[in-house]
Amino acid sequence: MMLGLVVSMVLEAAGRWRPLANDNLHDPESPAIGVLQEPAEALSQLPPDTSGNLVNWVKALEEGKINPRTNIRPETKVRIRDTDVLMTETGEMPVVRFPHKAHTMWLDCSNCHEQYFISKVGANPINMLKILEGKYCGRCHGAVAFPLTECKRCHSVPRNKIKP
Ligand code: HEC
Ligand code: HEC
Ligand code: HEC
Repeated sequence: MMLGLVVSMVLEAAGRWRPLANDNLHDPESPAIGVLQEPAEALSQLPPDTSGNLVNWVKALEEGKINPRTNIRPETKVRIRDTDVLMTETGEMPVVRFPHKAHTMWLDCSNCHEQYFISKVGANPINMLKILEGKYCGRCHGAVAFPLTECKRCHSVPRNKIKP
């Protein structure tokens, strides 16, 4: 095997999170480099994932590995909802299970309702193309939440497991 290839494979394995100085976001000349915590140092402590930023954030929260502040203003009411919605217009693909709990741990109802999703089962004309265009689930997934290439995380319920 060519040495260059071996070297790049080793580098790939070692540097799963890019150092701040060459992440194409931070100015490598900035005095903040060397002061800010490196992503690898922080994120390698959290439950791993295989895609996105390589952290399973839902697990991190559930296992108490992170404890984000829920509100800044004391009068803000934290609302958790624990219902799942099965979305069955998925053609040959397994059915989509939308878990409210995993979302309301981070988000308020008003982040989704009624602007992006009408809060009624089946009231939203969602399809995969619109999601890939950044609408509905695609407002967050592929942007700030796990990427759309992770089909099975949404399409998680085999069709024969649901009652007609
Ligand atoms: C991340 C976006 C998101 C957030 C946040 C969210 N919802 Fe929903 N909600 C949905 C989606 C998607 C559906 C399913 C719509 C469909 O079937 O077309 C839904 C459906 C519903 C429904 C009808 C189905 C059911 O479970 O009874 C209600 C009621 C509802 N939401 C209330 C709430 C409330 C109350 C909150 C806050 C505590 C909330 N939702 C937070 C996305 C969200
Ligand atoms: C963030 C969640 C999410 C991810 C990731 C996701 N889907 Fe979907 N998909 C949906 C939702 C929601 C629907 C609409 C279901 C409904 O309206 O009942 C859908 C619908 C579909 C449909 C039905 C036909 C259509 O065009 O809408 C197909 C096929 C599909 N997805 C394939 C895929 C494939 C292949 C992947 C991975 C490359 C994928 N999906 C990833 C949420 C997702
Ligand atoms: C307003 C932003 C937002 C919208 C819209 C949104 N999600 Fe999410 N979703 C998140 C965040 C944030 C997480 C947690 C971080 C992560 O897993 O990447 C998450 C996590 C999930 C999980 C993982 C749950 C677990 O236990 O690991 C599933 C499944 C999911 N979303 C499905 C959907 C589907 C299906 C839709 C559309 C019907 C949708 N989401 C719309 C932000 C959103």
